[in-house]
Parts: sequence; C-alpha cells; structure tokens
Amino acid sequence: MPRAPRQAPFSVQVAGVVPLSRTAAFSVAVEELREALGRLGLEFVPGAKGTVTERGTRVGEVKAWTARERVRLAWHPAPWMSDEVTEVELRFEDVPGGTKVTLEHRGGASVFGEGAEAAGWLFGGAFAPFLRSLAPAALGDWVTDRAARRPSGPRAREIYSDPEFHRPNFALLLEVLDLGPKDRLLEVGCGGGALLREALQSGCRATAVDHSPEMVRLARQNNRAAVAEGRLEVIEAEASRLPVPEDTFTSAVCTGVFGFLPHPLETLREVHRAVVTGGRFALFTGTRALVGTPACPEPMAARFRFYEDAELEELARSAGFRDAAVRRPDLTRYAVALGLPEEVVAVFRGHADGGQLLVGHKARL
Ligand SMILES: C[S@@+](CC[C@H](N)C(=O)[O-])C[C@H]1O[C@@H](n2cnc3c(N)ncnc32)[C@H](O)[C@@H]1O
Repeated sequence: MPRAPRQAPFSVQVAGVVPLSRTAAFSVAVEELREALGRLGLEFVPGAKGTVTERGTRVGEVKAWTARERVRLAWHPAPWMSDEVTEVELRFEDVPGGTKVTLEHRGGASVFGEGAEAAGWLFGGAFAPFLRSLAPAALGDWVTDRAARRPSGPRAREIYSDPEFHRPNFALLLEVLDLGPKDRLLEVGCGGGALLREALQSGCRATAVDHSPEMVRLARQNNRAAVAEGRLEVIEAEASRLPVPEDTFTSAVCTGVFGFLPHPLETLREVHRAVVTGGRFALFTGTRALVGTPACPEPMAARFRFYEDAELEELARSAGFRDAAVRRPDLTRYAVALGLPEEVVAVFRGHADGGQLLVGHKARL
C-alpha cells in the first residue's frame, strides 16, 4: 500500500533585537505580552504553570519556563481539530548591544493546509498584519495610544504620575472648581491620578474613570490612602458610558482627554446626567496653537480633534449645560507660580491661546 505523503513541517519565527539586558528583556516581554494580549482578548497568566485563554477557551499551557532564557507552551490553535497541538517558544539570547528575542510557532501543518494554503496564512494572516503594524496609520495609532490616548508602559506610567506639562492646567481647574470637604468630584480620563491627588487634598470625595487599565491601576496606586479610606473610586470605563449614578457629583472635570473622544456629545451628556443640579463642570483641552510643541507633538496632533470655542460651547449646551462658556486662559502665571523649569514655562509663554477652558453648570429644569 502506498504510504500517505508526510506533511512538511511548518514553522514560523519572528525575532527582534532589543537594547536591553536579558534580565530586563525577559521581564519587559512578560509584562508587555500580558498587557497587549489582554487588550486583544487573550488572557496570559505568566509563570511555570501559566496559561493563555481566549474567551474562556484554553489556548496555551506553559510546559517550560526558564526565566531569562526560554518559555515553551503547548498551543491549541484550532479546537475544531482537537488533536492538533502545536508548540510556541519564546527565546532570549545575548547579542552585541542587547538581547535577541525570538518567537517561534512550530507545527499545525494540517491546520494551515498544504502548499499554497499554508503560504496563504503565512503571508496574509501573519506577514500582512506585521507589515501593517509598521505602516504610518497603525504605527501612528500605536504611538498615540501608548503615549496619550490609552497610555501604557513604563514611560507612560512615569509621565502620568506627575505630568509636568499638565500641572498648570490642574492649578487652573482646581481654582475654578474650588473644592471642599462636602464636594463629590467626578473625573473623566484621570490618567495616573495626578489631578485627583491634588483635588483630594481639599477633603472631597471622588470617582474617576479611565479606559486604560494601566492608568486605572496607577491612579489607584498614586492615591492609595484615599482609596483605602473609601474617599476615591477609580473605574475602568469608556467616557461615553459612565458607570456612575445620576445626580450624584457636585463637580466634574475632564482635562487633556476631550480631543481623543470618539463620542464627545454622549460623554458630555453622561457627565451632565451624573452631576447634581447646580453642579459645576470644568473641561480643559488643547487648541491648534499647541501643534508641534511638546504638549501636542505628532503623531498625536493628527489624531486629536480640535474644537472652535463656539463649537465646544454648542456641544456642551446640547448636552444640557445651558450656561456653558469657553475662554482661553493664559497659563503662564500658573507655570511660573509652580516653579516649573524654564523650558516648560516657555511653552506656555509662547502659546497664551493654547488651551480652552469650558465651564458650565447643570441648571434646574
Ligand atoms: C493625555 S491623557 C490625560 C490624563 C490626565 N487627565 C492628565 O491630564 O494628566 C488622556 C487620558 O484619557 C484617557 N482616555 C482617552 N480616551 C478615553 C475614553 N474614550 N474613555 C475613557 N478614558 C479615555 C486615556 O486613557 C488617558 O489616561
């Protein structure tokens, strides 16, 4: 009897050299993969008994975990072909100037098919998304998300713990809100909780929302005492669907966020719903004047929506803030009073019309 033809082995490798020691590369790889897979709907539990799960289905189990060297997983790419178990390996090697990290997937010939079918997956399913990730639209989105629109990574955590360029905005907003112990503040897009830290010094209570899981964790960490005292709750949520009760907050604030929002009117309506009658809303957002400055570099600027003053007022009025008014405060005096370095002050001095402050109240019906 003629033997069935053996299927050719099928394997795919991607590799990169990172300018980090092997120890650092290993811990960054584990952390970044956990976070990024999470954003893509895959839960990665690292460690010797680690797993990868997609919507409740087990996709991978760690078979070997040698820190700084290699991680090997048994992989189940196709539960509809339950016998097909493939292998995924992540390897770390010293090379001049850093560490070479290789991700290899081995096996699965019958899942991917013969000849042109396997090649179809390789080029269309793997190489094309890889190249797209390096083309301007996706790379610009990645840089924007990473740094500002949905911040993640060590650099973003450091910046948003104390965002120097935002401190003058914070000082202005706190002056406008004039918070006290009886206040209940809502912040939309709280980042690392730096404004909350200052606001909570008034003795107020606060609830904050952000859609970046890393920023939510950071805001909680940076305000742990207030969280422990029950004075602060930080929630991971979309600005346009605030999971907060109506008629609850005496004040609401949103800064450095509005231009990124895909649903600005819905967000303003949600804020309006959440504040009590008479409650105050203060929003701060950058204007076109800041494009190209450290406060609004590319590729963020191209992905940030700028509003005319009248347009912003109209949106806020449509959401119910009938007295909404915008002004363009010069933040230089706040930057100077805070003792910020001269190069930071210079950005404010050079762009006196760089920010819009919208203030509105929820009026009695
Ligand atoms: C540039 S940061 C500003 C953070 C903080 N307000 C500050 O001034 O330092 C923008 C923040 O808004 C959050 N954000 C952007 N779009 C959002 C959305 N649609 N829903 C909730 N949060 C959002 C981001 O995750 C990020 O933390």
